[in-house]
Amino acid sequence: MEKHVSVLLNESIENLNIKENGVYIDATLGFAGHSSEILKRIPKGKLFAFDKDQTAVSYSKERLESINNNFQIYNEGFENIKKRCTQENIKPDGILFDLGISSVEIDDATRGFSYMKDAKLDMRMDQNNPKTAEEVVNTYTVEKLVDIFRKYGEEKHALKIAKEIEKERLVKKIETTKELVEIIDRCYPYKEKRNGHPAKKVFQAIRIEVNNELDEFERTLKDCLEVLNVGGRIAVITFHSLEDRICKNIFKKATEIDKVIKGMPNIPKDMLPDFKLITTKPIIPTDIEIRQNSRSKSAKLRVIEKIK
Ligand SMILES: C[S@@+](CC[C@H](N)C(=O)[O-])C[C@H]1O[C@@H](n2cnc3c(N)ncnc32)[C@H](O)[C@@H]1O
Repeated sequence: MEKHVSVLLNESIENLNIKENGVYIDATLGFAGHSSEILKRIPKGKLFAFDKDQTAVSYSKERLESINNNFQIYNEGFENIKKRCTQENIKPDGILFDLGISSVEIDDATRGFSYMKDAKLDMRMDQNNPKTAEEVVNTYTVEKLVDIFRKYGEEKHALKIAKEIEKERLVKKIETTKELVEIIDRCYPYKEKRNGHPAKKVFQAIRIEVNNELDEFERTLKDCLEVLNVGGRIAVITFHSLEDRICKNIFKKATEIDKVIKGMPNIPKDMLPDFKLITTKPIIPTDIEIRQNSRSKSAKLRVIEKIK
């Protein structure tokens, strides 16, 4: 299997401040690059890892077993973290999110994530999810398509592309990534095609919609603040501005001192925030990492710690 190269690996592991007897959660196991590093550092602890993708889970189980058995994998969405923490009666000392999809998912032509490879319009991370990209493209109204292309893709030709999709699907159902790429390509002015692939933003938007990525991330990150142990940290690697904004705002709110009490000379301890920011500015990959792995280019790492 072609490998996924983990992004900001050292930076995220260092910032989790791992204790050898601690309990850790990898919310996005993928191909276990980060999980392997966590597991090696917790000979007396336990790792709980989540991934919706069956392929990722079966590959990573073997990879982690070759290190030790202090782990448990859930082949389910990270939105179950809070429920699982209650069931297992644990308060994690660290939680990691490495959002988006893995290179293995992108490179697997059968999954339909890539605008570079012809495949059925699928884009599901969870192969049991009933909603596919084909359903989005063929059944959403023009207004709804425009809305997701703008909101999740920041696509400025959203209306033109949505109308062209509608025109096309009246003639024939749009079934493949190639057919969709051709439609988008027709809507793009020639001179703008130099600024990256014309289908990039629309594909991102459809993927986010199919997998309900932003809502689930926002809800789960808030849950994680609740379940985290005192002294524990949450590290989040994002790959686009929409995810990063959600993380930045949630962390900001959790670490802010109330405006009313901010000016007081001696603020009572219980009125101080429960969290502190470890990264006031996000950590980004070095030039060397970007050169070695172009997928890391847009990555940002933010870290927060629960202090009381
Ligand atoms: C960027 S990859 C993680 C790579 C991993 N850190 C590594 O080093 O191998 C992201 C993974 O998260 C999974 N994923 C995305 N959203 C998820 C969700 N809501 N719940 C569980 N897994 C999710 C994807 O299927 C993918 O395998």
